Amino acid sequence: MKKILITGGAGYIGSHTAVQLVQSGFEPIIIDDLSNSEEKVLDRLEEILGKRLTFYKGDCSDAGLLNQLADEHDLAGVIHFAAFKAVGESTVDPLKYYQNNIGSLMTILAFMKARQIKDLVFSSSCTVYGQPDVLPVTEATPRQDAESPYGNTKKICEDILVDLVKSKPGIRVISLRYFNPIGAHPSGKIGELPIGTPANLVPFVTQTAAGIREKLTVFGDDYDTVDGSCVRDYIHVMDLADAHVKALAYLGEQKENFYDVFNVGTGNGNTVLEVINTFEKVNDLKVNFEVGARRPGDVVKIWADTAKINSVLNWQPNYSLEDSLRDSWNWQKSL
Ligand SMILES: NC(=O)c1ccc[n+]([C@@H]2O[C@H](COP(=O)([O-])OP(=O)(O)OC[C@H]3O[C@@H](n4cnc5c(N)ncnc54)[C@H](O)[C@@H]3O)[C@@H](O)[C@H]2O)c1
Repeated sequence: MKKILITGGAGYIGSHTAVQLVQSGFEPIIIDDLSNSEEKVLDRLEEILGKRLTFYKGDCSDAGLLNQLADEHDLAGVIHFAAFKAVGESTVDPLKYYQNNIGSLMTILAFMKARQIKDLVFSSSCTVYGQPDVLPVTEATPRQDAESPYGNTKKICEDILVDLVKSKPGIRVISLRYFNPIGAHPSGKIGELPIGTPANLVPFVTQTAAGIREKLTVFGDDYDTVDGSCVRDYIHVMDLADAHVKALAYLGEQKENFYDVFNVGTGNGNTVLEVINTFEKVNDLKVNFEVGARRPGDVVKIWADTAKINSVLNWQPNYSLEDSLRDSWNWQKSL
């Protein structure tokens, strides 16, 4: 079984990817400093998988710890999820974001080079497209100035990867540009852990439905979209997890010094109001919401052209928006 280091593997996308990796015959080794997750995720993963995953508690910018880990495990690849991701916080404390998101990637790359670990899948984001002029966005759509320090860290990390691969270090890299991950494992045992006030729509919807939040505010209903609210491409986290497994398999077939980038979305855009209506319908609930003012910096509409990942990685989403919103609610109930 190939061992894959998952940085940030106790987090939302990392924990679901760990499940998919095990089910595809890989052995995930998790490193996480639990800065945005809880150790009990490991217990939940054990309940789902029927076995305990190897876990190192620590910072993946700690080269000593990485080397200890590589002495103990023969690593075939790395999936680098670990990063801070709160857009708002990144505008208040940009150095925290540049330090962790870029610093950790630099450490991981130096480590991979030194230990001759070939394959890397990197968590990028559709945020690199900014406010796109043409929709849907393809991987060739020009990236725009980042709207936040967080978004800028993803652009810079992509640039670092391109430059490194050009220098022929012997590694193979895929950046996956995630659109909007939602949903949870169908068992309801793992999902997105909301710490503080959620910045994303779906955790806000589920918390409002659960009575944790009094009211949800829709930021603007006068945009140029079907119902005036913003449009996003919502992708079930299990489908996103699956894209990592496909990316690793594809990297295994490539020559050294390979770099490519793939959108991971459904190819469909849904408005905020459609998400709320669908959530209410599939879960037979009412969500208390009001329409407020536009939020500065919001991208009006974005969804992915997924032709490249569909054909090259042979990846297709299996879950619908309805499935995602049912699973999100299921997870909220278990919380
Ligand atoms: N969730 C989204 O909407 C979204 C969208 C696009 C891209 N991404 C990217 O995907 C990745 C995973 O996101 P997520 O939603 O699972 O976030 P998450 O916060 O749930 O998971 C990240 C994990 O990394 C850990 N971590 C952070 N810094 C660390 C460090 N230096 N060393 C060790 N562990 C560290 C955290 O404790 C957390 O468990 C991030 O890189 C994020 O920027 C997320």
